[in-house]
Amino acid sequence: MSETLTAPIIAIVYHSGYGHTEAVAQSVLKGALEAGAQAHLIKADDEAKDWELLAKADAIIFGSPTYMGSVSAQFKTFMDESSKVWANQGWKDKIAAGFTVSASYSGDKLNTLVQMAVFAAQHGMIWVGLGEMPGNNSSSGSPEDVNRVGSYIGMMAQANADQGADVAPPSADHKTAQILGARIANAAKRWSD
Ligand SMILES: Cc1cc2nc3c(=O)[nH]c(=O)nc-3n(C[C@H](O)[C@H](O)[C@H](O)COP(=O)(O)O)c2cc1C
Repeated sequence: MSETLTAPIIAIVYHSGYGHTEAVAQSVLKGALEAGAQAHLIKADDEAKDWELLAKADAIIFGSPTYMGSVSAQFKTFMDESSKVWANQGWKDKIAAGFTVSASYSGDKLNTLVQMAVFAAQHGMIWVGLGEMPGNNSSSGSPEDVNRVGSYIGMMAQANADQGADVAPPSADHKTAQILGARIANAAKRWSD
């Protein structure tokens, strides 16, 4: 764990095939930076990815599109690569969280986040959920609401399949992603105290 109490190190490790998850990762990053963390993006499928940064991070936020009801193959490869770290429990007691993007409102995104939470548990990490009440689920709700998809275990975004990452997912999901980044920055600060 970092010795820095005031500026926790957050690593956001993600895969994105078509840019939507990358756009959400950037919003998670923004939220974490604005909350005072030293936050960094890491591409899960980058062969030169910074394992040292992951080793010194106080929190790791996992991000993957939902492909065929689970994390993408590229993200799963990263998970399997991390078994070397798992063997020594190198990420034990780090904060963990996750986000995912799919085209459908459900799209079986929950399975992706459950997969990440189980993965974090195998690493001995402390899983932190989104911590926002669900929006867009009553007559006074709106698609502009934070957490419009209504997820607890992590952050879910929905991106229309025929729209690029410049417009999909919509701004409500980016705001929700920023909230996740800030929440994990604050959780890491408290956990490191
Ligand atoms: C191989 C593949 C499988 C997909 N499976 C699902 C799925 O199970 N559920 C869903 O709602 N969308 C599914 N989608 C749509 C993607 O989740 C969606 O386009 C997402 O925004 C892609 O994120 P990315 O741009 O970061 O790759 C799939 C897309 C691809 C390419």
